[in-house]
Amino acid sequence: MDYAIRTKVVKIIVDDKVPEQTEVTVLGLVRTIRIGKQVAFIEINDGSCMENIQAVISEPEKYPVLQKILTGAAVRVRGRLIPSEGKGQKYEIAAELVDLVGEADSSYPLQKKRHSFEFLREAAHIRARTNTFGAVSRIRSKIAYAVHKYYQERGFFYVHTPVISTSDCEGAGDMFRVSTLDLDNIPRTEGKVDWSEDFFGAEAYLTVSGQLEAELMAAALGDVYTFGPTFRAENSNTARHASEFWMIEPEMAWADNDDNMDLAEDFLKFLFRYALEECKNEMEFFGKWIDKEVRQVLQAIIGSTFERVPYTEAITVLEKAKADFEFPVKYGIDLQTEHERYLTEKVYNKPVIVYDYPEEIKPFYMYVNDDGKTVRGIDVLVPRVGEIIGGSQREHRLDVLTERMKKKGMTDQENYFWYLDIRRWGSMPHSGFGLGFDRVLMYVTGMQNIRDVQPFPRVPRWAKF
Ligand code: 4AD
Ligand code: MG
Repeated sequence: MDYAIRTKVVKIIVDDKVPEQTEVTVLGLVRTIRIGKQVAFIEINDGSCMENIQAVISEPEKYPVLQKILTGAAVRVRGRLIPSEGKGQKYEIAAELVDLVGEADSSYPLQKKRHSFEFLREAAHIRARTNTFGAVSRIRSKIAYAVHKYYQERGFFYVHTPVISTSDCEGAGDMFRVSTLDLDNIPRTEGKVDWSEDFFGAEAYLTVSGQLEAELMAAALGDVYTFGPTFRAENSNTARHASEFWMIEPEMAWADNDDNMDLAEDFLKFLFRYALEECKNEMEFFGKWIDKEVRQVLQAIIGSTFERVPYTEAITVLEKAKADFEFPVKYGIDLQTEHERYLTEKVYNKPVIVYDYPEEIKPFYMYVNDDGKTVRGIDVLVPRVGEIIGGSQREHRLDVLTERMKKKGMTDQENYFWYLDIRRWGSMPHSGFGLGFDRVLMYVTGMQNIRDVQPFPRVPRWAKF
């Protein structure tokens, strides 16, 4: 197939690897077309980079196909690279061949003008063809690569934890059920649903976190990480919550909570540095069109030392704050976004790691401190977003863990026999955290809504495409 001889536009324009006068074949979608008497221009984007390349066709009357080419069409253009006369681009193509491969009719929604993000969410099947969503999609891929690079270069093994799960890691109960039972004809015994009749012979859900299985793998392999989709059925319609999101969860054997905080800080800085240094083109675009300050904000975080504040102290600081919080502050509350943002934006003006939370508000698996009242949880808070990382040192002492599970009202301890076995056979201190990948992307791009950094977002009442 001679599609294979194409030249990607990124090679011509960004990498600058193709010399003048080279014959190139470009395959892409038409952004605009202008047909004059002497000359016609087609602006083509092939997805390999943000930049378009312009094809110049002299004697357009010799190309009747031009009349059928509209914005959105797929075309093949062959010609020689010549210096561009207009400003902006270095090269254009003096076209000798123009093929219309796939027509687009005039109903194509992405005509040349600015579209609102709301409009484009309804057109998610084609929005990656726009400059903004093209840039978001490309940087998403690059940052995903950076995640693997970071851990692989540090000797962490990538483990695949299951998407279907029969346990509730976070204990928050906001899980999507996985079932093949006939909803019109649900098997019951003594009035209760008989889950033994269901596909897995037990109640099953989409996982909210890969942590529990990552702990098992860390006990065997030392340092591991997961990077995959997780699901939350919480009905919170905010700009930062999605029902399906990707999470990175490192888990380190032989590590305490200080090691955990060190890793969280170093990892975040690495990703932000990677964006600034390895994704210059996209970052320039976001700085120009989405958020003028985004690069300075990332730079400031890279240069900062994260403030580490015990929960108790954070509460004292918030109580003294002269702010009008919607949710009143007192010891024992779960920090709300307004509190988190106040701490990181107003008080410390840099990322903050809050640690040692009251036992009551954190899940069963966190290590209990000697005071018996607090657990070794951490939340990393960053300006603009609030919580971006949640994690902890894990409870590795069998007796303390089973006691705490009881206290939390977990009546199905036998279902967690595997999690407890790890504490029975060669238990060691270990720690880990979860970083929301989509929140990282919001941060890096300056995009304000999580729905605009995921290609096909899932949120309450929306799972189209
Ligand atoms: O704080 P969370 O719930 O922590 C856990 O799930 C732990 N089991 C992780 C671990 O220790 N291995 O979630 C971790 C991070 C949050 O800080 C946030 O960045 C992101 O996941 N997150 C969400 N991102 C988008 N939409 C949602 N609904 C999210 N819920 C959590
Ligand atoms: Mg959390």
